[in-house]
Amino acid sequence: MSGTKLKSVLSSFSQVPRELEPLPSDRHSLDDSCVRLNTNENPFPMPEVVMQSAIAALEQQYLYPEHDNISLREAAADAYGLTKDQVIAGNGSSELLGLIYRAFLAPGDSVAMLSPGFSFNRKLAMLQGAQFLEIECGQSDVLPVEELLSGPAEGAKFILLANPNNPSGTFVPVAEIERLAAQSDRLIVLDEAYVDFAPDNGLRLIHHYPNILLLRTFSKSYAAAGIRIGFGLGHPEIIGRLRNIQNVFNMNVIGHAVGVSILAHRDAYEENHRHIKRERERVSFALSQLGFCVTPSHANFLLARVPAGRNGRWWQQALERRKVLVAVFSEPCLNEHIRISIGTSAQMDILLSEIFKVVNDPEQ
Ligand SMILES: Cc1ncc(COP(=O)(O)O)c(C=O)c1O
Repeated sequence: MSGTKLKSVLSSFSQVPRELEPLPSDRHSLDDSCVRLNTNENPFPMPEVVMQSAIAALEQQYLYPEHDNISLREAAADAYGLTKDQVIAGNGSSELLGLIYRAFLAPGDSVAMLSPGFSFNRKLAMLQGAQFLEIECGQSDVLPVEELLSGPAEGAKFILLANPNNPSGTFVPVAEIERLAAQSDRLIVLDEAYVDFAPDNGLRLIHHYPNILLLRTFSKSYAAAGIRIGFGLGHPEIIGRLRNIQNVFNMNVIGHAVGVSILAHRDAYEENHRHIKRERERVSFALSQLGFCVTPSHANFLLARVPAGRNGRWWQQALERRKVLVAVFSEPCLNEHIRISIGTSAQMDILLSEIFKVVNDPEQ
């Protein structure tokens, strides 16, 4: 009886929600003793001054957070040399990605992304009933500008570029993105989630190109993934439309306070960023000595092709049994790869020593 009812509920949905699969419920909770190198978090504690702002914000718990995130948007506008109507604040930048797809895509539209890229975008496009065009760029650090302008992506409503890209860690010169922005009348969503680990950034483009919409997050370089703070920066006409469809009170009082405090103390993170870059080079070299082929990275993670004979999934499982978590991907071109986030030196030593053991005794 209830099975028949459920079936008729599900079949009453139109095509897009009907194709949405339920998430399996057998995912186990994370063991605290695992070394988590699979989600590109930054493992360091917040600077004391930022922590104090979070604790003070707890005293505001009985109040709704500030409407339209005004103080946080003002603080971001000051920090980035913009006006507050050029800034939207999100509960992580993934909230903002969701708004962009809802606001600017209708069923039947298409959106283009360099592939392999951040796969969450594929799901967002599917939910809008939009066509998701993946422009192959492999692990190249050259932007296929002509292909984006006149290839299959020509009719896309917007182009999604992550720079540095996830999962490759590659970085394309900002001048190439500028060339695309100048020649295209499409919206270009420039996702700079990892930009603080890269040699340059695209902030200056906002002043010249109304078709650039920049995304930033404090999840990676500011070690605040659990607090959920992200920003969209761009033209007020674009930003205002996104603010118009955003949930009221999308962030909480702690996110506001921590966001404002991080913006005021960005220099307190310099050693954090130096550490990630140093470890990135050290681990990259060590992995290559162990038979991995590592893509040069400008982010806080490494994409590594595993030694011949096993695939990425095999390595992920072998490391998981040893309590080290790394990421793998469903794209066939990444079958032989794992992605490793850069953590503390101690975490990276554990990773390297477990990999060494697997290399020397794969059956154990
Ligand atoms: C390229 C890219 N964009 C956006 C995000 C979302 O980050 P958050 O929602 O934590 O701000 C991620 C997270 O992994 C990412 O890799």
